[in-house]
Amino acid sequence: MKVAVLGAAGGIGQALSLLLKTQLPAGSALSLYDVAPVVPGVAVDLSHIPTDVKVQGFGKDDLADALKGADIVLIPAGVPRKPGMDRSDLFNINAGIVKNLVEAAADNCPEACIGVITNPVNTTVAIAAEALKAKGVYNKNKLFGVTTLDVIRAETFVAELKGLNPANVHVPVIGGHSGTTILPLLSQVEGVEFSDEEIESLTHRIQNAGTEVVEAKAGGGSATLSMGQAAARFCLSLVAAMRGENVVEYTYVETNSDDARFFSHPVRLCKDGVDEVLPYGELSDFEEKAKQDMLEGLRGDITLGEEFVNG
Ligand code: NAD
Ligand code: LMR
Repeated sequence: MKVAVLGAAGGIGQALSLLLKTQLPAGSALSLYDVAPVVPGVAVDLSHIPTDVKVQGFGKDDLADALKGADIVLIPAGVPRKPGMDRSDLFNINAGIVKNLVEAAADNCPEACIGVITNPVNTTVAIAAEALKAKGVYNKNKLFGVTTLDVIRAETFVAELKGLNPANVHVPVIGGHSGTTILPLLSQVEGVEFSDEEIESLTHRIQNAGTEVVEAKAGGGSATLSMGQAAARFCLSLVAAMRGENVVEYTYVETNSDDARFFSHPVRLCKDGVDEVLPYGELSDFEEKAKQDMLEGLRGDITLGEEFVNG
């Protein structure tokens, strides 16, 4: 199993690479790419941890070598938000970064599963899909927007509110990854009752949790450590599925539903990426209204990405 992390010297990239170095199965390889000159040092640093995972660093001009033979490509490359910005404000810089990296993946590891972390995810996943399509290698079963952070936050906040062990709390989160497009399905949390006020305030907190971190970091970036954990969970689930385990994760994928071209669903994973996009089940009236209210915005985010590639 070879995993390539593109943007590996950044806040997410380093946290994610550390978790993968310690948790990928024995015999795996970890390929770290970044345009920042520190990336070979990050690789040397990680290589001193005694696990059977081989780490190699690749600088700016070695993207092709970083990608050759990769089974999974994770992309956290790009700029993060500062206070006062929306994720969509990152489009101008990050759209081109994601397009170039995905084109290189198409050329060097066309069969790999790709997990896009770079914001705005609602749009960068559409960019990735269209860039792969233009290269003639798009497989909708192998492209994922990583929205696992919304799930782990929802689980943490519900557990905190209700005094539960977060390990036993499971919260579905569907939709996209920004503001009101993030839709936690609190009505489906097993064994927990919420008042209307709790549903409103928890939903709002989950939707704005990224901003909570951006403001607390006061200009120093956005979530990196929790995102590293979320991306590692997603990647390790994909690795487990590729090794034959039955795994379901919520992730932003191309669907055939009427909601939007890309939408986070529960997805059964397999060795070829998506095995089955599962239905997200029945919504409460509150959730159905929240979904209807956000669909137009999400579809617009997706169109922006499609048009970025197709002109
Ligand atoms: P960061 O600035 O700490 O790291 C980004 C890294 O990307 C840097 O090391 C930079 O050198 C590298 N980079 C820039 N252009 C590159 C290129 N063309 N090729 C390779 N590497 C390149 O930022 P961060 O905090 O790690 O965040 C990265 C991205 O992830 C941001 O867009 C952020 O908004 C997004 N993010 C997404 C989620 C999510 O839930 N999906 C969560 C948190 C952050
Ligand atoms: C998050 O949810 O923390 C990320 O999308 C980063 C951000 O800009 O909020």
